[in-house]
Amino acid sequence: MKNAKAIKITDTSLRDAHQSLLATRMRLGEMLPIIDLMDQIGYHSVEIWGGATFDACLRYLNEDPWERLQHLSMGLTKTKKQMLLRGQNLVGYRHYADDALIEFIKRSVANGIDIIRIFDALNDLRNMEKAIQVAREEGVHAQGTICYTTSPFHNLDHFVRLGHDLKNVGSDSICIKDMSGLIAPYIAYELVGRLKKEVGLPVQLHSHYSSGMASMAYLKAAEAGVDVIDTATAPLSMGTSQPATDTMVAAFKDTPYDTGLDVEQLTGVSQHFKEIISDYKIPRDVMGVDTNVLIYQIPGGMISNLAAQLADQNATHLLQQVLDEVPSVRADLGYPPLVTPTSQIVGTQAMFNVLTGERYKMIITEVKNYVRGLYGVPPGEISPELKEIVLKGDKPITGRPADHIAPQLEEAKKEIAAFIEKEEDVLSYILLPNVALDFFKRRKGLLPPLENNSSGGNKDGKRGSGSSDKEKSLQLEDIFRVDENLIWSDDYNTVYPVA
Ligand code: CO
Repeated sequence: MKNAKAIKITDTSLRDAHQSLLATRMRLGEMLPIIDLMDQIGYHSVEIWGGATFDACLRYLNEDPWERLQHLSMGLTKTKKQMLLRGQNLVGYRHYADDALIEFIKRSVANGIDIIRIFDALNDLRNMEKAIQVAREEGVHAQGTICYTTSPFHNLDHFVRLGHDLKNVGSDSICIKDMSGLIAPYIAYELVGRLKKEVGLPVQLHSHYSSGMASMAYLKAAEAGVDVIDTATAPLSMGTSQPATDTMVAAFKDTPYDTGLDVEQLTGVSQHFKEIISDYKIPRDVMGVDTNVLIYQIPGGMISNLAAQLADQNATHLLQQVLDEVPSVRADLGYPPLVTPTSQIVGTQAMFNVLTGERYKMIITEVKNYVRGLYGVPPGEISPELKEIVLKGDKPITGRPADHIAPQLEEAKKEIAAFIEKEEDVLSYILLPNVALDFFKRRKGLLPPLENNSSGGNKDGKRGSGSSDKEKSLQLEDIFRVDENLIWSDDYNTVYPVA
């Protein structure tokens, strides 16, 4: 019989950990050999899908993400399989229609998912509630998510209120998602304590090691009664990833919080991933600790990415100005938490503001759509000046963004009929139209195989000869890239109103 205070573990090694450190490039073949042992460990759940894995599989690895899900599900017979869903953005970068959302969740569950963590970049409940409702109808655990951030509009009361709201729309548990590693240990203690006491649902804490505080936050969260923490196998831990499973299990051993997991058995898992990552060259910037994240709220690696983009424009000297501009743009947009896709939107607009020498002289499409209300309601007020420039007196939409999107399934089925081999294909196409179409063409032999279907990220052409073939070189820009799918082309305006 486990102690009531025992901490449960969600292992993120097969999703968030390699998304954070390896640009989501780990392949199914590198996971399957260890899946039996992982199934024996006794984790609360293993995160295997969602987030960027869907995109990376189709775009870089020539892997069908649905087949990855099926294989991992077959291996994990005893352990719950968890995924991350970006609310109405599913695993893409824009809002999708409800019919696509319903079908996507149904197929995810049919292929093995047991727990769905559902978040929205703006913490806008209307972008999460449909997914929560459908997950419940499908009989799986719907975890409502609070994206943690700091701003004049974010305080404990705000987060606890959101916790209540998430409970009211049917969440089975609450996740505090601290995507940039901002949560300080004593804040974690207070927030977890209040959610447990006032909302009364199980609470899971998800943090990243970026600022160096995450394992301390987990310790204090445990003292406050947290139910589950997210960790990664030691070789894929720390840096911009999660604290190490092995460390946290050892830290809680023989205390009331004892996870009950076997440290020795865990070394079998870490040994496997140690061998896997020896093939990868992990960029230095995603390792170690970077407290800049506490100032700019963008992960250190993304700062390097902005630096690289500026270098392309021969404007490296402007980096500090861009970094200073990021918090200002975020303030103008009403202090959104910075997570996909808002992190990319704010970072890119800040860069344009500095490069053009005049704030909002050039406004990216995403910012226009954001101001029009197409992403939802920001936590604070959008700057009146920016509203005036974008809306020119028009009114933003006030309803639920997805209500403005026409159904997508039937249309997509017609468009892609020639390529459909299984029913999930139409979902891949709706989510990432161009990427999926190329994948289908390669599958049919209509396009040549990917030049480098193992790592993608290598642009220096080293792969393919001698010993360097073994090293999967990753570039920071692959980890913190602004995805082209994020750029809302005018095409989207056919399904998305301009006002
Ligand atoms: Co994460």
